[in-house]
Order: sequence, then structure tokens, then C-alpha cells
Amino acid sequence: MRSRASSKRSSFGRSSSPLAASDPARPAAGARLCALAEIADPGAKGFRFRVGEALFAGFVVRRGALVAGYVDRCPHAGWPLAALDERFLTRSGEHILCSGHGALFALADGACVAGPCSGAQLASWPIEVRDGEVFTA
Ligand code: FES
Repeated sequence: MRSRASSKRSSFGRSSSPLAASDPARPAAGARLCALAEIADPGAKGFRFRVGEALFAGFVVRRGALVAGYVDRCPHAGWPLAALDERFLTRSGEHILCSGHGALFALADGACVAGPCSGAQLASWPIEVRDGEVFTA
């Protein structure tokens, strides 16, 4: 089941980044997402934040030492990537998969390596891991 985290401005504060300014539901830097151990290796975990009518969806991928966050929006048609909760990766865990039309993305940088948006890239959602906990950065 996909994790859902409610966001309140009072708990996450405001960010001065242009992305956050255009997306009021995007959590500010420093928001705790989960324990790293809650993300399978390899695996991914999705997060949703709502502020009023605004919704932000992102996910964190993990494979070995690599932990990276992306906005859950395919550059091909703008759809969320996972049709099924938490199913962001291919069966092998080597790529991020968009269930819409099968685009594949590199785990490390979100670059589309196959599919209808080849050459495009997932938008990064900066995260950091501190003391075994995953936070927005
Ligand atoms: S919406 Fe992702 S490949 Fe088409």
C-alpha cells in the first residue's frame, strides 16, 4: 500500500524554491519521509502530500547505496508512474517503470532510457538520508 503523508504548512514550513512556490503541497526541505529500512532493496516507496486542493506525489527509489527521489509524474504524458501502489520498478529492480506506456528510467538520474519519452528525464525530488531516516532536501 502506498504511503500517504499529510502535509500541513505549520509542520513543514515553507520553501523558497521556485518548484515549491508553484506546488504548495510539495513538502519543504527537512520533512521526514520514512525510515530507510521501510524501502525494500531494491525497491521504491511513494508519498503523497495534500494542501487544500493541491496534491504533490513523489517516490523514493533504493538499490544498494543508491537512494534517490523523483516527482511521480511521467515526462511522456504527465501520468503517475505506478498503476499499482509501490510498483515503481521493473521486476529486476534495475529501472523505474512507467505503467502508462512502458517507459524505462535510470534509477540514478531519472533519464528515460527506453519508451516514448526517450531522452527526457524524471523531475528530481531531492532527498537525503541521515541516521537511517529519509528526509526531503
Ligand atoms: S505516461 Fe509514462 S510512458 Fe506514457
